[in-house]
Amino acid sequence: MIGVFDSGIGGVTVLKELLKILPNEKYIYYSDTINNPYGDKTSDEIINISDKIVKYLIDQGCTIIVIACNTASAIAKDYLRNKYSIPIIAIEPAYKTVPNSDKTLVMATKATINSDKFKILFNRFDNHNTVLLSCSGLADLIEEGNKDKIIGYLDNTIGKYKGVKNVVLGCTHYPLIKNEITEVLGKVNFYDGSLGVAKHTKVVMEDNNLITNTKQEITFIDTSNNKNKEELFYKLLK
Ligand code: DGL
Repeated sequence: MIGVFDSGIGGVTVLKELLKILPNEKYIYYSDTINNPYGDKTSDEIINISDKIVKYLIDQGCTIIVIACNTASAIAKDYLRNKYSIPIIAIEPAYKTVPNSDKTLVMATKATINSDKFKILFNRFDNHNTVLLSCSGLADLIEEGNKDKIIGYLDNTIGKYKGVKNVVLGCTHYPLIKNEITEVLGKVNFYDGSLGVAKHTKVVMEDNNLITNTKQEITFIDTSNNKNKEELFYKLLK
């Protein structure tokens, strides 16, 4: 069984890619809405939260974990990999897939942008024409799902970057608002890490003999117990 977690429903963008590549597996999707947003928390908080979730998912029978959250991946993946023996797959902002030095905007949470992991990635692939933008509060607005508020937020934060060609969606919530970003910036090329992470998961599962190829089953858990989240989750998954 594959355990997938995020601070909310954002990780559905990763789960969708996983389902295309690994359709006949059992999944638990753990949406930690009660602790959303992770992006404004301290590293210790993010590590503690992620540790509890991974322990829970392993207790449920997961044999591999996919961290469908850039923030938890950047902050907690080393800790989790040292502590647990099952494979822990982590996502990262898809900055290295930007193929040119056109003007680029990287959108991610504060914790991701400020993390050592992201700094290393950025310095390695720096195209010398990039703006790094911490989008505090944006994941919460996406959870809330109010389009007007999202557009208002984007106008105030990314509106001034009209003319950028590349936008790296460095938080798994952001692919859910590609239309709104396009409304504010015009046509841009988007880069997100979900397909890459799904492909990598398949390779790791093959290497570790974890593919069951039986029947697809998805269990959804939301820590806020808010019924609307479950509805939204299945709607987004379609
Ligand atoms: N979806 C998460 C990410 O990919 C985090 C959003 C948040 O809780 O701040 O970074």
